[in-house]
Amino acid sequence: MQLPGEVRMVEVGPRDGLQNEAQIVPAATKIALIERLAEAGLPTVEAGSFVSPKWIPQMADTAEVLAGLRRKPGVSYPVLVPNMKGFEAARAARVEEIAIFGAASEKFSQRNINCSIAESLERFAPVAAAARQHGMRLRGYISCVVDCPYEGPIAPEAVAAVAERLLAMGCYEISLGDTIGTGTPARIQAMIASVAGAVPRERLAVHFHDTYGQALVNILASLELGIATIDSSVAGLGGCPYAKGASGNVASEDVLYLLSGLGIRTGVDMARLAAAGRFISGVLGREPVSKVARALAAKAA
Ligand code: HMG
Ligand code: MG
Repeated sequence: MQLPGEVRMVEVGPRDGLQNEAQIVPAATKIALIERLAEAGLPTVEAGSFVSPKWIPQMADTAEVLAGLRRKPGVSYPVLVPNMKGFEAARAARVEEIAIFGAASEKFSQRNINCSIAESLERFAPVAAAARQHGMRLRGYISCVVDCPYEGPIAPEAVAAVAERLLAMGCYEISLGDTIGTGTPARIQAMIASVAGAVPRERLAVHFHDTYGQALVNILASLELGIATIDSSVAGLGGCPYAKGASGNVASEDVLYLLSGLGIRTGVDMARLAAAGRFISGVLGREPVSKVARALAAKAA
């Protein structure tokens, strides 16, 4: 199949990345990072989550971040919302897009949001209805689309079943998360093919963690199946607090390099993106995980 001519890059570093850093980054730093990412041309920059601060203390200042953020017209700043309490917080913060997040694995659902898959869908239903009522865009995430750290392999049909429910609730897009980064291209393609039986491909996104170094090749495999929305995290920040050993998301710089090389348009500026990655890596006191960012820095030195 022909690769898409254009891809939307969804930046998740300020949420998925920073939620897993041991060091709690101050709100002002998060704001500076999000503003740099928007200036780099990213159309969507996930800004935080309204979840229990006992579960994820790193995101406890999401309201402060949103209050201080200079929002660039045309850029979306979604936040994760697990229930109505989170929804009300998002509404108070004048959020225009929220994301509900479920899983294709029962055990992961329990560890991550303390309820079964069926219960999570029951909790999401009023959130989805409220989002519709208040004109907020709704995105859906599914974790463990190939493997679960507690259950092992997950059947593609299980992913498709959750995706179908999220679509019916009104999600404009569903992001398929390889939470622990164990997927390889054939399994990713089988999973996408199954989900595409329930959800149109143009409404699917892929969300790869790079634990086993397979994320870029899995992105190529997804592009081959017509997927044109890719989640990534600047500098490769991140991991998952409920998936031991999971490393960060695929680095945005690496994804951009791949897409540019394939002649796929994104509207993202590499120099500005890499600068944003150096900024946050400097704050965290380490090098970017991104190989492209390191290579560019070495070339410039
Ligand atoms: P629970 O304990 O079952 O909820 O947690 P509860 O309703 O019984 O409430 C317990 C306490 O949490 C109460 O406070 C509530 O007020 C508070 P207390 O009375 O004990 O002081 N609470 C909240 N506080 C703030 N905001 C809220 C909220 N809701 C309840 N929205 C809950 C259920 C979902 C809240 C909890 O399990 C939780 O917060 N989990 C967070 C999980 C999380 O954020 N995980 C990371 C994001 S998912 C991810 O990274 C995967 C993804 O990247 C895709 C992939 O890679 O696979 C998206
Ligand atoms: Mg993730």
